[in-house]
Amino acid sequence: MKKWTASRAPAGRVAYVNGRYLPHTGAGVHIEDRSLQLGDGIYEVAGISNGRLIDEEPHLDRLERSLREIGMAMPMERAALKLVMREMVRRNRVRDGLLYMQVSRGAVRRDHPIPDIVPRPTLIMTARAQDVEAGRKKLREGIAVITRPDQRWARRDIKTVQLLPNLLAKTDARKAGAYEAWLVDGEGFVTEGASTNAWIVDADNHVITRQLSHDILPGVTRRVILEAAAAAGQPIAERKFTVAEALKAREAFLTSATGAAIPVVKIDGTLIGDGMPGPLTRRVHMLYAQKAGIE
Ligand code: PDD
Repeated sequence: MKKWTASRAPAGRVAYVNGRYLPHTGAGVHIEDRSLQLGDGIYEVAGISNGRLIDEEPHLDRLERSLREIGMAMPMERAALKLVMREMVRRNRVRDGLLYMQVSRGAVRRDHPIPDIVPRPTLIMTARAQDVEAGRKKLREGIAVITRPDQRWARRDIKTVQLLPNLLAKTDARKAGAYEAWLVDGEGFVTEGASTNAWIVDADNHVITRQLSHDILPGVTRRVILEAAAAAGQPIAERKFTVAEALKAREAFLTSATGAAIPVVKIDGTLIGDGMPGPLTRRVHMLYAQKAGIE
């Protein structure tokens, strides 16, 4: 595997930092940025398909909501933000990939309370290509997940940069040869994946995903799928499900901006259904792709 660190980014990549487009190599924020020192920041990840941002508005809606929940405003007018986002896609020549955007409370002398005189927020963005063929392989063959206790805080609906429990669970998954970790609450119900929403199809062919609350991130892909499914007459139930129910499910899948609806064919080593991606997962993926305008 190629060694990759930020200081050895592929040539030509451009980062956006507070109003400036900079070479990705060496682009940085202040050492006392509150996101860096205190996790006092919000982020978004949007897909790019055919050089176009996917679900741009709902991602901006969610960014605005997350910021509001931590007492922050958008760092600039929405129209201006969109210009920067699109400029990042263009300058990085991304055809299929991801845009990452982060807003932190800014750089100020380290202290826990939110400062009375709020500094200028820090806005950063990166854009990068994704391996399209690797994505197609996941859709064809499905992926495995493992389950882990959900050790996150009680406001998982806010897309904060504080991701330590998520990345520990995800690392366990990768070590176990799985793609994702499904996080499980104290009562045995799946909340969501470490960076994806979780879905199953039950014996009656009902598509099920957990209802929105403070317990999960309101996934943009989830939201668009619900709208597309409703329009196509495909019923979806929003309710909790246990790991035991998931193990007996006909199908399972996960959703996120990084891969639409990816079939889950194994949970904690147990095959789901016949161990192959199922028809309803494919239908949901197709409905999403049509609505979002991706291949
Ligand atoms: N993760 N749940 C969690 C905890 C997530 O971090 C994400 C997204 C999702 C899916 O949301 P969406 O459909 O809006 O991508 C659910 C992004 C991709 C990330 O952290 O990279």
